[in-house]
Amino acid sequence: MIDAVSFENNTLGYLDQRLLPLKEEYVRTKSYQDAIGAIKTLAVRGAPLIGIVAGYTVMLGLNSFDGEKETFPDYFKKLIAEVEASRPTAVNLFFATARMKEVYDTHYASSSLEELFGKMLVAARKIHNDEIANCDNMARHGVELIRQDFAEILKTRKLNVLTHCNTGTLATGGSGTALGVIKHAWNEGLIEKVITAESRPLLQGLRLTAWELEQENIPFLSISDSSSAFLMQKGMIDFGIVGADRIAANGDTANKIGTFAHAVSAERHGLPYYIAAPVSTIDISISDGTQIPIEERDADELRTIFGTQVAMPSTPVLNYAFDVTPAEYIRGIVTDKKAVVGNYVSELQKLID
Ligand code: MRU
Repeated sequence: MIDAVSFENNTLGYLDQRLLPLKEEYVRTKSYQDAIGAIKTLAVRGAPLIGIVAGYTVMLGLNSFDGEKETFPDYFKKLIAEVEASRPTAVNLFFATARMKEVYDTHYASSSLEELFGKMLVAARKIHNDEIANCDNMARHGVELIRQDFAEILKTRKLNVLTHCNTGTLATGGSGTALGVIKHAWNEGLIEKVITAESRPLLQGLRLTAWELEQENIPFLSISDSSSAFLMQKGMIDFGIVGADRIAANGDTANKIGTFAHAVSAERHGLPYYIAAPVSTIDISISDGTQIPIEERDADELRTIFGTQVAMPSTPVLNYAFDVTPAEYIRGIVTDKKAVVGNYVSELQKLID
């Protein structure tokens, strides 16, 4: 079993995902600054896992507080701001800090710091445990939807599924969002093969999803991101399913850059394209995808390939880490509560209420 993240003895432990699959290095730290660095550099990544690590990072920050109770509110405010500045797109991070702030707001006045920190640890662990449980629920709802949408085809053969980036245990701590659905569908005998798009520039598909599938003995084929339309044209893909970093109230979905291009290709070929994400990834406060903050990352992620310079150092680069797939390209959004098909505006709101 992959141990993506842990929190024991006031120490955060995580598998450094930058090194996979060539090296499995488990890092342990008590420093909240190190934990923020791990989020920024994608040593830990994937929306639900970023949320889990954000909760534990707040705990590390609390544990290094050594002032009087009166000075704590200022310290806490700065700590939360630092954690929130680590990555902008995955709303799970802000969901986690909101949970921690809620505990602070409710209990600060009436508790000692020790009691308060104890309550906050319970909240951080709950974020982690909830995300694990969410994966199992998404897997169930996702497989139901696939069975329903492919009832005819499944009478004669299994399905080939395209996925992008990494949405498995490494991204969630549980079985995964999109990859969790895929794993469950494979166990149920619905899947022939998983096509994993490489996910340039940091190669989460080629490095991480392939590694997870190998561990689970699930057959897969890795492709360059630009191959998906051609494979669809050749009938080699039946549907796509990906995760999400933030879903707006109307269903527009931000996910790893390249997600939208696959969706356009799927639409062109009449293939269903699904999103799988926990309710913690829905940002009901924004009406559509134009309001989702999209992270731009360092130009050298493109100009170099894992440390090797491949472009002129002066090459101007635009390196968006995510794109937004408009809701009309999405056949269904599989959440931990249910799979939503059709009217996202009213259905997503109901999931939050
Ligand atoms: O930049 P990353 O690797 O954090 O991006 C991750 C993704 O885009 C995932 O698809 C998304 O977070 C869903 S993870 C279950």
